[in-house]
Amino acid sequence: MPRYAYVNGRFTRHGDAAVHIEDRGYQFADGVYEVIPVHTGELVDEGPHMDRLERSLSELSIPMPLSRRALSLVAAELMRRNALTNGFIYMQITRGVAPRDHKFPKKPTKPALTMTTRQLPQPEATFERGGFSVVSVPDIRWKRRDIKSISLLPNILAKQKAAEAGCEEAWQVDEDGFVTEGSATNAWIVTKDGKVVTRRSDAGILGGITRLSLLKVMRVEGIELEIRPFSLEEAHEAREAFLTSSTNYVTPITRIDGKPVGNGHPGILTMKLRKAYIDHVVHGKAGAERFEVEAT
Ligand SMILES: Cc1ncc(COP(=O)(O)O)c(C=O)c1O
Repeated sequence: MPRYAYVNGRFTRHGDAAVHIEDRGYQFADGVYEVIPVHTGELVDEGPHMDRLERSLSELSIPMPLSRRALSLVAAELMRRNALTNGFIYMQITRGVAPRDHKFPKKPTKPALTMTTRQLPQPEATFERGGFSVVSVPDIRWKRRDIKSISLLPNILAKQKAAEAGCEEAWQVDEDGFVTEGSATNAWIVTKDGKVVTRRSDAGILGGITRLSLLKVMRVEGIELEIRPFSLEEAHEAREAFLTSSTNYVTPITRIDGKPVGNGHPGILTMKLRKAYIDHVVHGKAGAERFEVEAT
């Protein structure tokens, strides 16, 4: 259990941390969040995570509550207080407190900022499992999935369906039969001729920072890539499949809707990418590109 949380300017004991009952995040999910992975006490890809946070806020006309530098200092202090070595820091920013009314408050509110941490085992040390199973579900979300909104009900329902099916993740499928992404992860396949496929980062999915860094890693490794949507049928026929996220890194998928992917074991290319991504985490924590540069 972490000892401290950060709430609106104060480090408070985690069990006592609280926000106002009329915080618009609590009442309307009017806010955004970031999950920044921490590896051996350092933030991974801090720059791109902060870029995405700023972008999500600006899309909702919520001002940054602190400068990037100050946010970094608060995060570092919370990590120190909680002796966080591996895991993640969670940041949430909402429009703030105002009497309940859907439209933005006339008098600008002070955005509310909270942070917590979670200790997790080092992913590279713990991955012994055969791979994840996923179940497909219809994508019932809104059309601005690029905003990292705290409004996550469809994602919660998708993840619950996965749990009920004995799976670790759900792959959401749009009206045209294409996989958009997981409930909290980006989706990838490897075709029979060895090409890695993932869909374009636009309003249809959350632009994952792990996805972004893996694309960079793949360019360095010279791995063939196709940025395009893939259908659920194509995923069922794929040689390999995997997912990416800040807490799962690159994780093989070995079953989709109960059917084995390829030979039913973690794919060779997937495990190579996992290793290359972990090298990026271990050696290149600060060195990722800015969010805006992604043209894909
Ligand atoms: C819907 C969704 N897609 C993708 C991701 C992966 O993003 P990242 O790699 O930045 O963790 C997340 C992470 O929370 C997510 O919620």
